[in-house]
Amino acid sequence: MSGGDNLEFEIRPNPAPVSDADRAALLANPGFGRIFTDHMATIRYADGKGWYEPRIEARAPIPMDPASAVLHYAQEIFEGLKAYTLPDGGVAMFRPDANANRFNQSAQRMAMPQLPVETFLQSLHEIISIDRNWIPQGEEGSLYLRPFAYASEVFLGVRPATEYLYLVIASPVGPYFSGGVKPVTLWASPDYTRAAPGGTGAAKCGGNYAAGLSAQAEAAEHGCDQVVYLDAVERKYIDELGGMNVFLVLDDGTLVTPPLTGTILPGITRDSVIKLAERAGRRVEERPISLDEWREGAASGRVREAFACGTAAVITPIGVIKSEDGEFTVADGGSGEVTMGIRKQLVDIQRGRAEDPFGWVHRV
Ligand code: PLP
Ligand code: COI
Repeated sequence: MSGGDNLEFEIRPNPAPVSDADRAALLANPGFGRIFTDHMATIRYADGKGWYEPRIEARAPIPMDPASAVLHYAQEIFEGLKAYTLPDGGVAMFRPDANANRFNQSAQRMAMPQLPVETFLQSLHEIISIDRNWIPQGEEGSLYLRPFAYASEVFLGVRPATEYLYLVIASPVGPYFSGGVKPVTLWASPDYTRAAPGGTGAAKCGGNYAAGLSAQAEAAEHGCDQVVYLDAVERKYIDELGGMNVFLVLDDGTLVTPPLTGTILPGITRDSVIKLAERAGRRVEERPISLDEWREGAASGRVREAFACGTAAVITPIGVIKSEDGEFTVADGGSGEVTMGIRKQLVDIQRGRAEDPFGWVHRV
């Protein structure tokens, strides 16, 4: 079994699953990340042994030694992707292979073992297959899948652990922002940055999110929904939001987004938006955008729309940006036509309602 290729999952069905009536009640208003399905996938890893003991079992607390390395040095990575019900009743995931590859890039940065792409995909297939009656119906509903791995070795020395646990849990979700698709307000923090060159900004590791919580609290104090992080060197250029990438739409229809220089997460939604736009003949520029360019562009009409994008947030219009220097509004602060058009195009592909020109929809 070492190496992890073609692992055979042992299926141990939950002996006490949630009743049909209780599940229906939960699915009526799932929110985001509040409720969970009956099962989880687990795979263990040890140096010299590789990945072993792949299981689907009842979702339950995981016993953890207080000296588990992750609790001290945060050696942990995760992914996020969604499964949807298709018009013919089938189920599909969106670009899970891209998540598998990014998981391994994050693992590399955090000195963790590589998980074979096939094993990652298989774990998602298994969890969706056993918990498919947990996928909420309706336009905003999907099953959010959260694969993650952490250093489980019981050891307090600072070095890469020799033992890990990989898990997948699944959460039926509605929209990430309560209130559905409406423009969000951003806070450009004068105090906090998210990632410096050479740091972990491009990895999906828990520490990046813990480090953003004070900034998020500061945003909330200023009446904002999210933080827009500025670069850590000059404090001038836009990086991304705490859990989303950013695009501007210019008056000639061009999309502009910050480049992948190692300080932002290479979003799969970001990549999908770029590919769909270019296929439609729209110009896309990946280049630094300063907050000043955005402010001045909003004032002159050069910047017509702005949106945030990510798996959880899909495509969310950005209405207002606040900073210590004051605030500005993008156009009329509403949901732009180009933004909502891109959103529809993407969601229609994800939900199997439109042609899938890049083969992104992965049937389970
Ligand atoms: N940026 C950050 C920091 C994120 O956490 C996410 C969400 O995963 C994204 C961007 C968007 O990435 P994706 O489109 O792959 O979900
Ligand atoms: C996702 O979009 O999948 C994320 O991980 C972002 C997080 C803010 C929920």
